[in-house]
Amino acid sequence: MRKLNVLAASSMAALLAGAAAAEPQVEVLHWWTSGGEAKSVAVLQQEFAERGGTWTDMPVAGGGGDAAMTALRARVLSGNAPTAVQLKGPAIQEWYEEGVLSDISDVAEAQGWSEVLPEAIAGHMKCEGAWCAAPVNVHRVDWIWANAKVLEDAGIEMPTTWEAFNAAAQTLQEAGVVPLAHGGQAWQDATLFEVVALSLGGPEFYKAALVDLDPEALKSDQMKAVFDQMRTLRGFVDDNFSGREWNLATAMVINGEAGFQIMGDWAKGEFAAAGKTPGEDFLCASAPGEGFLYNVDSFAMFEVDGEDRVAGQKLLAELIMGPTFQETFNLNKGSIPARTDVSLDKFDSCAHTSSEEMQASADGGSLLPSYAHGMALRGAQAGAITDVVTAHFNSEMSSDEAVQMLADAVANSM
Ligand code: GAL
Repeated sequence: MRKLNVLAASSMAALLAGAAAAEPQVEVLHWWTSGGEAKSVAVLQQEFAERGGTWTDMPVAGGGGDAAMTALRARVLSGNAPTAVQLKGPAIQEWYEEGVLSDISDVAEAQGWSEVLPEAIAGHMKCEGAWCAAPVNVHRVDWIWANAKVLEDAGIEMPTTWEAFNAAAQTLQEAGVVPLAHGGQAWQDATLFEVVALSLGGPEFYKAALVDLDPEALKSDQMKAVFDQMRTLRGFVDDNFSGREWNLATAMVINGEAGFQIMGDWAKGEFAAAGKTPGEDFLCASAPGEGFLYNVDSFAMFEVDGEDRVAGQKLLAELIMGPTFQETFNLNKGSIPARTDVSLDKFDSCAHTSSEEMQASADGGSLLPSYAHGMALRGAQAGAITDVVTAHFNSEMSSDEAVQMLADAVANSM
């Protein structure tokens, strides 16, 4: 046994030495193409180049990453996986089970990832006990963003209940401002829906319905109330919402064409890239009620041949978890660092709110994974829910029909 361990250790050392000698290469598949996103990923590209690496970029446009995931499947099926891929939540374990992900435990252990990551985040990065992904951030999904001047001109405060939100939106509509900037894409509809579900129904309801997929919760009166509010929100979007990218919706709030957007804090990356300051130009508030919906971006490495590519994967994993990278990247991205030991001194008030409420939610049991951003469910179940949410949002479907369809779709996806 001991001899085996020694052998294993010496071959690992040889592997690492070989990898270190090779010039690191990566091809990175991601969907960070908006202004704020591109600025964020550029930080990683620059650090990679500074360490002698060659980065081949494979951006696949489309917020939420649906198009990127389709591109990934095609690449893997053709036997030509990218070296590193932006991958999140249970999809990491799904790909690991297909036997195509690399184990990056050597880097994780050498850098002591366990000591600096919250347990919930570390859990998402592990596959059958091995480290199989590296986290860059924690995005919060349940935010309401607003243009400060638009609200002030209309004499409205940032709403703290849905009744207040609906009333404020009504006032904006009457003043000729688009109340809610939204892009009609399935994942954006799903984002609105999960925020309303947590906010109106509370953490226990959210967990029962969208994490545990409890049929009673899916069909409940509470879920009907969620669809009712979705119908109300549908009345607050403009006529051109169909197909609009999320960052163009954020731009509507930035330039005062719209009052509000309900979106994760990658939207803050757009405000920041446009030189806007929270509290002055724009406002951020967590959605009414308790809880925190988290969405952690991470990268997984796919099994590839070649010392240069393996060296590239190890270097990338190391850089992603580097404390200075996590600071700079997240300042641009709108999220907060995944590492708990990075100071938030340079971060704005929204990031401080996020960090404090994340801690409070973790303590109170209401820190919850985002279903719409692939953190809570496997692909089939998440897709089944999103199909119903989008069908409801884009039709005259009643809330009664929607909950029945939702429960059936989830049952059929199991
Ligand atoms: C999320 C992702 C964010 C942001 C957003 C819009 O799923 O986690 O980093 O990129 O999509 O593209």
